[in-house]
Amino acid sequence: MPSDTLTIVDNRTGREYSLPIVDGAIRATDLAKIGTEDGAGGLLSYDPAYLNTSSCRSAITFIDGDAGILRYRGYPIEQVAEQASFLETAYLLLEGELPTAGQLASWEEDLRKHTYVHTNVTKFLEGFRYDAHPMGMLLGAVGALSTFYPDAKDIADPENRYLQRVRLIAKIPTIAAFAFRHSRGLPYIFPRNDLSYVGNFVNMTFEIGGRHEPNPVLQRALEILLILHADHEQNCSTSAVRSVGSSHVDPFSAVSAGIAALYGPLHGGANEAVLKMLDEIGDVKCVPAYIEGVKSGKGRLMGFGHRVYKSYDPRAKLIKTVADQVFEQTGLNPKLEIALELERIALEDDYFVQRKLYPNVDFYSGLIYQAMGYPTDYFTVLFALGRLPGWIAQWEEMLNDPEQKISRPRQTYIGHDERAFVPMSGR
Ligand code: CMC
Repeated sequence: MPSDTLTIVDNRTGREYSLPIVDGAIRATDLAKIGTEDGAGGLLSYDPAYLNTSSCRSAITFIDGDAGILRYRGYPIEQVAEQASFLETAYLLLEGELPTAGQLASWEEDLRKHTYVHTNVTKFLEGFRYDAHPMGMLLGAVGALSTFYPDAKDIADPENRYLQRVRLIAKIPTIAAFAFRHSRGLPYIFPRNDLSYVGNFVNMTFEIGGRHEPNPVLQRALEILLILHADHEQNCSTSAVRSVGSSHVDPFSAVSAGIAALYGPLHGGANEAVLKMLDEIGDVKCVPAYIEGVKSGKGRLMGFGHRVYKSYDPRAKLIKTVADQVFEQTGLNPKLEIALELERIALEDDYFVQRKLYPNVDFYSGLIYQAMGYPTDYFTVLFALGRLPGWIAQWEEMLNDPEQKISRPRQTYIGHDERAFVPMSGR
């Protein structure tokens, strides 16, 4: 018997099965061979929320949640965040290798040519209510882009996929900035292609009367935050992009599914929820009582805990350093004191220690975004900007993987057996 196999004995039938183990996994479809005499279907694996199911083979991002390790294409996140630009990181995720100077220049140039959106996109955005959540606007507008680029449906052509990828990465900052201006009742500022990717985005959000003084420290801090969010393997929004994309819909529709998933408070919406929580706590004195409330089941400590990291999220560590640089420029955010106290108490408290709950990427990012001048409901949009290259890289990898098919989980039916329909008069 080869050692890289798993032997299973089905005690219902006494039969023994040997399943191959490849890269630390058995194939769930191999379980289908395990059946009973009465013809009942083969065995399924039951895994609500995919706690222990690998849904793909991926070469993009590596995470060791226990050791707190995150790598993009093999490069430690700490080195990428310190040395790369966001577009270099996007290239790395998408192409698999760091770009040469020439490759980076032509990648940046391709993106620069596509930063404008069709005028009708601006009209579409104008149709939203004055108080529309910017994430809802982004979600709607990115989905709508599929109607502007019907050629994007040709997902089998790699060159066409490249064009759509460029369109997405070039236009989403423009749409995101328009959503920001919309909520403030400010006219939209069009892209300036003489600026860097991040510089142009910041200018489109903050320019007033043709003027905006860029602060290089804050811009680099924003760029690092985007890099830290650029990919995180099979998280909820990426799985949504892969799952929706597996129906072979165009990438604008698939990415809008990712934006929808990211909108939720348990995923990208958590940084917004952290700020609301800090407001609710209000004062450092109230932190112990708040923690006791969480422990007794009154809500969760937002920005804490992670499905994969069971130690300090390496992104949160880097973000804490960025926070110091930002607050040096902007002055201290008074909520920081509450956040630090929450972290201090939680890291010593048995409840959090036993459950391995540590600060995640969202715990400090909201404080930084707020110090930069972004309103709370805009934080998730910034997360989406960062995650975009990851979504597209994962979508591309899914399409090129010959083992992938349309995503379609099975279920364990627990409802009624067949029963006769009861007419209205008999109910
Ligand atoms: N505060 C208090 N208790 C918590 C928290 C928290 N933030 N997170 C998990 N727990 C408890 C939970 O109640 C459970 O306790 P028990 O075993 O007694 O029932 C235990 O820890 C395990 O929790 P779980 O819900 O099974 O863990 P999960 O892996 O399904 O959830 C999570 C992961 C991120 C959804 C969760 O930790 C959470 O809701 N955190 C707050 C929201 C948040 O910060 N989300 C951002 C995640 S990082 C950004 C991203 O990648 O999207």
